[in-house]
Amino acid sequence: MHDFHYVGSELYCEGVPIKTLVERHGTPLYVYSQHTLTDHFQKLDRALSPLNHLICYAMKANSNQAVMRTLANLGSGFDTVSEGELRRVIAAGGKVNQCVFAGVGKTETEIEFALRQGIYCFNVESEPELARINRVAERLRKTAPIAVRVNPNVDAGTHAKITTGTYENKFGIAFEKVEGVYARAAKLRHLRLLGIQMHIGSQLTEVAPFEKAVRKLAPLAAKLAVKYGFEFISIGGGLGIVYQPALESGSQTWWKTTAARKILTPSIYASTLVPLLQPLGLRVLLEPGRFIVGNAGALITRVEYVKRTGKKNFVIVDAAMNDLIRPAFYDSFHEIVPLQSKGSGRIASDVVGPICESGDYFAKDRALPKVGEGDHLALLSAGAYGAVMGSNYNSRSLAAEVLVHDKDSAVVRARQDLKEIWKHETIPAWLR
Ligand code: LLP
Repeated sequence: MHDFHYVGSELYCEGVPIKTLVERHGTPLYVYSQHTLTDHFQKLDRALSPLNHLICYAMKANSNQAVMRTLANLGSGFDTVSEGELRRVIAAGGKVNQCVFAGVGKTETEIEFALRQGIYCFNVESEPELARINRVAERLRKTAPIAVRVNPNVDAGTHAKITTGTYENKFGIAFEKVEGVYARAAKLRHLRLLGIQMHIGSQLTEVAPFEKAVRKLAPLAAKLAVKYGFEFISIGGGLGIVYQPALESGSQTWWKTTAARKILTPSIYASTLVPLLQPLGLRVLLEPGRFIVGNAGALITRVEYVKRTGKKNFVIVDAAMNDLIRPAFYDSFHEIVPLQSKGSGRIASDVVGPICESGDYFAKDRALPKVGEGDHLALLSAGAYGAVMGSNYNSRSLAAEVLVHDKDSAVVRARQDLKEIWKHETIPAWLR
């Protein structure tokens, strides 16, 4: 469930008509619902309540400070992948001792920063990284908490670009090698073997790959836990969300559709995985990103032109692939609905941005209500991997972001000033 719905013919986020946000802040505009964020976090948290667990929100999905603060206030930890992300946690009031540090390319500086700040655990992706963490810890006279990221070689059944748990991928350490790696790690005096981790991919809509991976990892985790005194097992993130179909204009029944019913709910996830994890007696960590923020955000855009070629009806909007790259990058589907629902018929349309690339589109041959210049559209389920993947391509500024809380709203990221884009560029003396 999410909090974007129609009241009469007007699209609202919680108690706020989105049109008023557009009038105040312009477009392209990301709008987030605090209630959806909270609700999704709590649904997952409750489903896992039989376990001693910690949700480490994968902040790469959306690291806006207001989103982070909302989750930190709910007791969330964070899955981080860079010094920048860790600094964001600190700035947002999150606890570093509830953070894990993931990623295949941690630099010495990043390791040092995380250690000094008291990171809960490094999720280690290679043997050279283990050696590096040990070396940095020795220099700082510290003991570094580590978990090996296991690559269980289980196909997540998702898009190739977001599959991470097979031997084709750069991530983790091959299942068969993990025991040997822990044995060698145990000899490194500045490491503490705190747990074991895996993450098999993103946008999983079936529980089966999770189940397969946990069934594979659990016996190994049990064995190593006894040997090394593990505190936790982490099962990563990856819970998928409903992208298609979302709400129909004029109705609020999107969750009743067949596709929505098939979605992997926290209760299906938990009822399958809790019985496999509970006997381990370990703390269970998970790293959901998309599940928490995906449906909590929409990208609002203005229709600039409607261009009818002989073949196509192009709806040209003011948002572009630099604002939301998912359709261009993963051929992903985002439901598109008008801010003002129209009774009129539908027309097969391509919704495209102004960027000079054919990949700059949000929908192809989609049956959409007829719209014209000055109308507004909402691209739903854009809360995860939306704003964070934004760029300045074509010297377009980063979109503004607004958080809605009941009838309140606040700008949580101001629209980037155009001059900011080239602020750090200089013309060398010989060209002046
Ligand atoms: N843990 C690790 C180690 C990860 O690499 C990721 C995501 C997560 C957790 C969170 O996964 P989630 O729960 O959000 O599925 N930009 C892509 C998704 C990339 C995911 C990268 N890693 C997209 O827009 O679909």
